[in-house]
Amino acid sequence: MLELKGVESGYGETRVLHGLDFVVREGSVHALLGRNGAGKSTTLKTIMGLVRAQNGEVVFQGQTITRHAPHEIARLGLAYVPETRDIFGALSVRENLQLAGRLAGAAPEWTIERVVEFFPNLADRLDNGGHELSGGEQQMLAIGRALMTGPHILILDEPTEGLAPIIIQQIYAKLKDLKKSGLTVLLVEQNLNFALGPCRRDQPDGAGPDRLARRRRGARGRRGGARPLAGGLSALPGGSRGARGFSTSVIPSRS
Ligand SMILES: Nc1ncnc2c1ncn2[C@@H]1O[C@H](COP(=O)(O)OP(=O)(O)OP(=O)(O)O)[C@@H](O)[C@H]1O
Ligand SMILES: [Mg+2]
Repeated sequence: MLELKGVESGYGETRVLHGLDFVVREGSVHALLGRNGAGKSTTLKTIMGLVRAQNGEVVFQGQTITRHAPHEIARLGLAYVPETRDIFGALSVRENLQLAGRLAGAAPEWTIERVVEFFPNLADRLDNGGHELSGGEQQMLAIGRALMTGPHILILDEPTEGLAPIIIQQIYAKLKDLKKSGLTVLLVEQNLNFALGPCRRDQPDGAGPDRLARRRRGARGRRGGARPLAGGLSALPGGSRGARGFSTSVIPSRS
């Protein structure tokens, strides 16, 4: 459904991705792993056309989209929720959802009613401003906005970053529901052990410690500092196909 072939991209003279290959199969959940600064967010932005690939190919449903503009890529059914969550704080929850649906044209399978049914936490918040929501509610709204576009693939950058464990579990339960309904999901995730739990028998040691715990150890932001993570990831150099439609890829660190 989505394939990256030898993708190289970066910013100006700086190359971040040095020939990345992976495949996301239809109906699966694929997690992209890698150390801080390895290029996970850059990968998602390159898929979405927000960062230009310098070499290689991004293929979606048989079509090369490497040179497409971001709005064309979105129109093909790739819905992207960035780390920043991409909601409008000054608009109400209802308006946020309406706008997402309108920008994408008709997507009858996802309506505001269905989003609210899917994320009941949003039911009482429809008239609240986006800025009044908790972090978890904002993430649900961001995913709701993505669903309103009627996507074929949902692309999420660290959807559980900074959220409480109970909220992380709620969000993952929802992602599993979406997978069950046939949606394909590509996500960057650091809380993988915790998030996917028993679904992930092939979890590399140390690849999914709670991000807060790693931060407490000072791993984030210090290139080369995340030793437990790096050691664990080396067990899975080329990525892996897990049980029940869960798979992973690892972006190797160059430093
Ligand atoms: N807009 C930008 N301009 C220049 N360099 C950038 C830009 N965005 C990211 N970078 C650099 O590209 C590299 C990869 O960044 P990226 O955000 O893709 O990493 P990441 O794997 O998502 O990291 P994290 O786990 O911290 O989210 C880093 O060295 C970063 O400093
Ligand atoms: Mg990132």
